[in-house]
Amino acid sequence: MIIKVGTDCSGIEAPIEALKCLCDKYKNIKYKHIFSSEKDKFAIRCIKENNNPDILYEDIQQRDINIVPNINLYCAGFPCQPYSRANKYKSNKDPRLNLFKDVLKVIMNKIPECFILENVKTLVTLNDGHYFNEMLSNLKKNNLYNIHYKVLNSKDYGIPQSRDRLYIIGILKTKQKKDFTFPPKCKMHDILSYVDINNNNKDEIKESNIELFKNIPNDSVFIDVGFRKAKYPNSNKWAPCITAQPNMWCVPKNRKASIKEYLKLQGFPETYKKPDNVSEHQLKIKIGNSMTVNVIEKLLENIFISLNWI
Ligand SMILES: C[S@@+](CC[C@H](N)C(=O)[O-])C[C@H]1O[C@@H](n2cnc3c(N)ncnc32)[C@H](O)[C@@H]1O
Repeated sequence: MIIKVGTDCSGIEAPIEALKCLCDKYKNIKYKHIFSSEKDKFAIRCIKENNNPDILYEDIQQRDINIVPNINLYCAGFPCQPYSRANKYKSNKDPRLNLFKDVLKVIMNKIPECFILENVKTLVTLNDGHYFNEMLSNLKKNNLYNIHYKVLNSKDYGIPQSRDRLYIIGILKTKQKKDFTFPPKCKMHDILSYVDINNNNKDEIKESNIELFKNIPNDSVFIDVGFRKAKYPNSNKWAPCITAQPNMWCVPKNRKASIKEYLKLQGFPETYKKPDNVSEHQLKIKIGNSMTVNVIEKLLENIFISLNWI
């Protein structure tokens, strides 16, 4: 079977990386990347360097849904700032709130067999659950989809990064053959295997961070130096959440975490290419905004089982 996939707010395309892994594992499926959408010029460069969608839309809000091609699988990690605690908009005036409408348009007009939507976990409780309940009732409209949702932490799915995210799964009722279940937790990899031991760069510890380094465990591996008061008691087991303010530090190597380490901590393969015209800092921001590849792979696997695709 050839799975036609479309992604929106595509970033650095974690779902496509996850699909590649699944197609390696299950020889009866292949995928065709039908469309992506991205507004950010650095993410667009990353997509062009690493992926090959038939169509790359620039703005999900400007496109005519009638000419968007049909797909079997749809993935969207629409911007999370409106729902995160760091949000500067205190009311629903934030224009990004409307992006869900565009996501919904794809689902209701193209009716893919399945979809995954990802966001920050605070979406569920924001405004006393008002936004989220409205989203759910929209996704359940016309009784087309079985909808499942859950907050999963990347560190429970192999990758040693503590990253809680909300995943909303939709499976078309008329195509579903078996129940969908969220993947069971699995063993976390050893965090030391995520250190790029051959990178011997050294970075200065800022004066303002000296106190932070006194408070962390001796065998700490990755910490975020943006949070100066944190103590990171588990930083010998997992890295803190990678954010869009790239401040990850590799303690045993005494330097900023490298691109290789950032990518690995989000499940991207070593072969992922940084375009020459995207700085390391910019790519780190994109990695901080991305979904974790391993989590998406496990979700897709269970979705495909429920559809009898694998
Ligand atoms: C939370 S990130 C999602 C990242 C993606 N899921 C990944 O795997 O890397 C949201 C993305 O939506 C993009 N975006 C914001 N507004 C957009 C719009 N109107 N049209 C298309 N993309 C948009 C942002 O540039 C950002 O890369």
